[in-house]
Formats: sequence, structure tokens, C-alpha cells
Amino acid sequence: MFKNRVTDLLGVEIPIVQAPMGWIARSPLASAVSNAGAMGIIETSSGELDVIREEIQKMRDLTDKPFGVNIAQAFVRDPSIVEFVAEQGIQFVTTSAGSPTRYTAQLKEAGLTVFHVVPTLRAAQKAADAGVDGLIVEGGEGGGFKNPRPVASMVLLPLVASTIDLPVIAAGGFVDGPTMAAAFALGAEGIQLGTRMVSATESPVHPNWKQTIVDAAETDTVFLNQHGSPALRALRTDYTSALEFDREQNAMAQFGNVPEVYFGGNLEAGIALSGQVAGRIDAVRPVAEIIEECARDCLATIADLNRAYTNPPNSR
Ligand SMILES: Cc1cc2nc3c(=O)[nH]c(=O)nc-3n(C[C@H](O)[C@H](O)[C@H](O)COP(=O)(O)O)c2cc1C
Repeated sequence: MFKNRVTDLLGVEIPIVQAPMGWIARSPLASAVSNAGAMGIIETSSGELDVIREEIQKMRDLTDKPFGVNIAQAFVRDPSIVEFVAEQGIQFVTTSAGSPTRYTAQLKEAGLTVFHVVPTLRAAQKAADAGVDGLIVEGGEGGGFKNPRPVASMVLLPLVASTIDLPVIAAGGFVDGPTMAAAFALGAEGIQLGTRMVSATESPVHPNWKQTIVDAAETDTVFLNQHGSPALRALRTDYTSALEFDREQNAMAQFGNVPEVYFGGNLEAGIALSGQVAGRIDAVRPVAEIIEECARDCLATIADLNRAYTNPPNSR
């Protein structure tokens, strides 16, 4: 169905990447994504490398399809992370939250395919100069850690894709077939799904978090720490609303009780990272359905546009 530089480099049938997310992007979610023909990713941003090693082992039992690992550099400061990833026999790695000059050469020498996450054109140029194989271009509407000067995917994606000749995976605001087709129209060859994957059946977060995403309007996220770095996009709750315009505190220090938020389901106990696209998610659904529907509806959207605009009935 799909054949482009992303499917070729990643060895997947469907150019969809499941976002790396601390404590969430582990084997139950990532294996479901890989088994659906897309790219499952195991996180390291939790810093729990012993657990991650076991998760990678579990992946080998759960899927024979490709999967990758993310190195979120700000959160994994141990320089042996490169050997750690290479030793696990991983082929695909995404690097984020740090300079692309730090690990790219070492990862490439170890034979890995490296995509770096970028929030600006300048960062994309730096990553291209560092020799990465591709870019994950992340718009500010997405969930998670963000550049304090956010640029929406609609602006950033065509800017980067038209300036730099590297395969691009679009992140931030992508959720279904039409948005995937839009990413392709803007120059991407794949998409990364974050918030949509938090809400999936196989996601390990508490049902309260998933239901809050389902219930959320498009206005129900907050952008925290714009005065500092990193900024964060998270679900609007009483807890996060109180931090929204607080210029004194660093929201990172207020991250709260992760197990209580993620697995206890108390969304007032800390920060639940999510993107604006929560406003477009209206059900908790299995990963295989989400991936299959995205792929099918993306191709249908492209075909419909082609029919409607390349040979419209009134132009014959
Ligand atoms: C709960 C959560 C945790 C995240 N953690 C990470 C991370 O550890 N590393 C990373 O590169 N991106 C992280 N992100 C950002 C995602 O990789 C992704 O790019 C973003 O969610 C895409 O936007 P979307 O939420 O609109 O799909 C996280 C996002 C969420 C929602």
C-alpha cells in the first residue's frame, strides 16, 4: 500500500511510528503497533534501563516485526546508552530532547538508522548536518516536552520538508487518515502518533486518563513552562491550570506523582502529557484498528482528492 523512503528505511509496511513515551511506550503497546505493520517504539525516558532491557526481550517474544528505541537525551544522561541500544540488536532509533551532534555519529557507526526529533527549521538543519537519516518534525500542538516557542505542524512541516532533503515523519496533531494524508501533502512520508496511542486499548495508562482524552475538547490542553525549558503540553486539569501562567515555578519540578497519575488514574496528582488532538479522539480503540483505519483512510483521502480536483466533472 505504501512505499517510500520511510517504509524502506524502517522496514515497515505502514509509515506510522508510535511515539516514545516514558513508562507508556513499553512492550504491550509497542508490540501491538509492530504487529499491525507499523513501527513500535520502546522508551528510555523513564531512565529505568534495567526494565527497558527486559521490555526489549519481551518484544522479541511478542513480535517478529521491526521495532525501535527512543533516546530522550535530556532524561537519559548515561553515555553508555548508545552501547546499550546497539547491544540489544536494535536497528532503528529516534533521538530527541538534545543536540543531534551528541550521539548520531556513534549510532550510525553501530549500524543504526537514526531519526532526530526537531521543533524548528534551524534544529532540522543542525540534525541534517550531524548526518541523521531522517527527521521527526514535531509541531507545537503535540503532547509532551516542547520547544518554548512552539510552531504548529501546518507551518513547520512544509518549511522543513521543502528546505531539507531528508525523509520526514510528521508529529503533532496527527490522528487519522485525513491528517495523515495532509502530512503527506505537506512533504512528510510518515506520521508519529502520540496522544492517539496514549488513548489506545493496549496503552498501559489508567482508564481515567484515556477517558479524559476522549472527553477533552480541542482547547483542553495547557502549554506549561513557556518561560523556561523544556515547555510541556499537557491535559488541562485543576492542577495544570494552576501552573499555566505561573512564571515563578518550573513545571518540571511540579511533575508530580507519575505512578499515581499514569497508573492510579488521579489526574490531579501531577501532569498528564497530551496534545491538542485529544479534542479529536472520541473512543478508546485497539491499536490494530487505529493503524489499519489510518492507512486505509489516508489512501482513500488521497484518491478522493485526486478524483475531485484533477479531473472534476465540470472541467471536462
Ligand atoms: C505522554 C507523552 C509522553 C511523551 N514522551 C516522549 C518521550 O519520552 N520522548 C519523545 O521523543 N517524545 C515524547 N513525547 C512526544 C511524542 O513523541 C509525540 O511526538 C507527540 O505526542 C506527537 O503529538 P500528538 O500528541 O499530537 O500525537 C511524549 C508525548 C506524550 C503525549
